[in-house]
Amino acid sequence: MKFTLNLMAASAALALSLSAQAGEVEVLHWWTSGGEAKAAQGLKASLQAKGHTWKDFAVAGGGGDSAMTVLKSRVVSGNAPAAAQIKGPSIQEWAREGLLQPMDEVAKAENWDGVLPKVVSDIMKYQGHYVAAPVNVHRVNWLWANAEVLKKAGVKAAPANWDEFFVAAEALKKVGVIPLAHGGQSWQDFTVFESVALGVGGADFYRKALVQLDPATLGGPTMDKVLETFRKVKSYTDKNAPGRDWNLATAMVIKGEAGMQLMGDWAKGEFVAAGKVPGKDFICAAAPGTAKSFTFNIDSFALFKLKNKANQQAQRDFASAVMSPSFQELFNLNKGSIPVRTDLKMDKFDDCAKLSNADFLATAKSGSLVPSIAHGMAVPSATEGAIKDVVSQFWNNDTVTVAQTKQRLLSAAKSL
Ligand code: GAL
Repeated sequence: MKFTLNLMAASAALALSLSAQAGEVEVLHWWTSGGEAKAAQGLKASLQAKGHTWKDFAVAGGGGDSAMTVLKSRVVSGNAPAAAQIKGPSIQEWAREGLLQPMDEVAKAENWDGVLPKVVSDIMKYQGHYVAAPVNVHRVNWLWANAEVLKKAGVKAAPANWDEFFVAAEALKKVGVIPLAHGGQSWQDFTVFESVALGVGGADFYRKALVQLDPATLGGPTMDKVLETFRKVKSYTDKNAPGRDWNLATAMVIKGEAGMQLMGDWAKGEFVAAGKVPGKDFICAAAPGTAKSFTFNIDSFALFKLKNKANQQAQRDFASAVMSPSFQELFNLNKGSIPVRTDLKMDKFDDCAKLSNADFLATAKSGSLVPSIAHGMAVPSATEGAIKDVVSQFWNNDTVTVAQTKQRLLSAAKSL
């Protein structure tokens, strides 16, 4: 009898301690495409392996504009998720509101300072404290192409500059395929714009115009060339582009309906999820004129303050899982990006990822590593939104002139 009672007490205590440890992590993200969802699945699995519950808070919409709107309303109603996909300067904006939870304990125990490049850790910290955990490094300045379609059109190699791009686009048109797959959503227009700006103007121009928002550069003669090139690029997209999701544009390249796409390397996740092989079925190349530069886009999860003790523990375990070598490898193999840790081997990664990794390190040294403005890495979110609108208006309305757009860019840059 005594034994049975002891046993009951012991099992009750065990149940209590397990339930005290097991928490729930609600995670806001916008990874709903094929490749993205596969990548996110790995994170969910590693959390569940620690006994926690994953509460999925996925808000569809590439680039995350809808996700950010939903996040704001949730936070305003006092119901923030444990973790939200928030990037770049926005991390500082949320932290300034006093809403984010410092993760120093985990970061210190796991030596985040030692394994992250400084350009990354600086973004994750607010006043010296880690308030977000980075997942990957995406490169935005990529061009994706269907290898067979290029061959059919007689295009021997991916275009190395914008002149070559237009020659290739003409050749693709002649064989009856859409030269450039595009999804007409403002963030996608902006993604193409920043690659054109980088390719036409170079990294110094990009930094001055789109990171430092220098008026003389924003309104200078190189911007004329950028905008003219950008408008010409549009003439090689199809009339059904407006509103199309980015992954459907990628699918057009995968199926050979279109020849090329200008998109960050989350597009590679779609090719890979469709069983396509880089170098054989599809080509990855730096966007025209940008081989020596790198626009970076780092996905990260900002961690919100929570009240429940078990959920706080689950949140710490989440941060630790995000940074773990095994997760970083698995996630990035599916996502198309590269691990953010500098201490991981790249042998399981394909040539596109190896090129990205080598270029990330080389451009960090040469000074041509620049933050992506279209993906929330370069300027405060309000300024980014204002500039994005100007770029989209120019792309969508041929009656808007280059001169008008330069003026509008200058006022948008001051719109803080
Ligand atoms: C980017 C994000 C990527 C990918 C892409 C398309 O902003 O960093 O992870 O999700 O949007 O939705």
